[in-house]
Amino acid sequence: MTTAVPAVRPANPNFSSGPCTKRPGWSLDALKGAALGRSHRSKAGKAKLKEAIDLTREVLEVPATHRIAIVPGSDTGAVEMAMWSMLGARGVEVLAWESFGAIWVTDAVKQLRLPNTKAVVAEFGKLPDLAAVDFENDVVFTFNGTTAGVRVPNHDWIPADRAGLTICDATSAAFAMELDYDKLDVVTFSWQKVMGGEAAHGILILGPRAVERLESFTPAWPLPKLFRMTKNGKLDEGLFEGETINTPSLLCVEDYIDALNWAKSVGGLKGLIARSNASAKSVYDFVARTPWLKVLAADDATRSNTGVCLVFADPALAAAPLERQAAFAKDFVALLEKQGVAFDFGAYRDAPPGLRIWCGATVEPSDVEALLPWLDWAYAQLSPALAKAA
Ligand SMILES: Cc1ncc(COP(=O)(O)O)c(C=O)c1O
Repeated sequence: MTTAVPAVRPANPNFSSGPCTKRPGWSLDALKGAALGRSHRSKAGKAKLKEAIDLTREVLEVPATHRIAIVPGSDTGAVEMAMWSMLGARGVEVLAWESFGAIWVTDAVKQLRLPNTKAVVAEFGKLPDLAAVDFENDVVFTFNGTTAGVRVPNHDWIPADRAGLTICDATSAAFAMELDYDKLDVVTFSWQKVMGGEAAHGILILGPRAVERLESFTPAWPLPKLFRMTKNGKLDEGLFEGETINTPSLLCVEDYIDALNWAKSVGGLKGLIARSNASAKSVYDFVARTPWLKVLAADDATRSNTGVCLVFADPALAAAPLERQAAFAKDFVALLEKQGVAFDFGAYRDAPPGLRIWCGATVEPSDVEALLPWLDWAYAQLSPALAKAA
């Protein structure tokens, strides 16, 4: 194992899973054209919001059948808006295999308290049995479980002729994985993930079946203004043209537009996916030749290409109580942070202790490559103490 200090450092040490690093070459100059100090209802403000929607459609290749809105409350806002507005018309299945899916389970079971709700939960590293999902129900799921590094492998398990709706939290999948909009009635994500945008704004993409639900079903509970997508029983079409529910940040909008233009410059969706794939492959190849690390995802077909989650395979550590593993992971991350080599790459707080290396498109694959020898170096610094304690 390498114990010498590696010669090369990542040029950019930001490996956080959100907010994710800004796109290569970003500076505050990118925001110069923002419609600051203008009303978001003015011609100039609305044009910026519409541009953000149009560029989202172009880069993500969203079909004309689907509507796109900018909504408050980031991804959580977008998911909850869909859940509170659409669920209750039929049975519900909520799938969870990590922390965010678990939040949508809590929403359905404990907050909305929907009857006929089934929570389908798998442990970290695994997916629930997708073949057992009953699409007579509405199905809520996360395309990529960011805190486990486990994604659904494809869309084959979602039938074209389903009766229920699919509500898909795609926040760490959008701009990194192919999404089949015909299979996804609702898609949500936030700007600060794969595009390295600013937080607090969500995107909600609705297919025709979701719109049909909104126009034919009224929930039994009151809906706060922030969640309302219809007016007099009809879809509020203005929302999908940039007439946001409340006031957005035109600075964040400008930054998102900048990120989308950068996305176009690297080859659009295909280019973005290729960047994530290249970075993730470096990490997975490294793990394959590294005896002290292991991929958390149990099945290779479910490995994420954005939040790559790793756990320690060192026998002394793997057998240790969780607190010791967590302390080791904390020391590991702190050591490389102190070196200025890598920031924010520890596992999510309630995930199995380990490392999470963000490989979304704004991360340079060369920076991921440069980080890898440092992982060996950090392990060489910390593992002697581990052996002594064992
Ligand atoms: C899969 C998933 N869902 C939801 C969220 C919450 O997103 P936000 O903070 O944008 O509401 C995250 C954030 O990391 C996520 O990864």
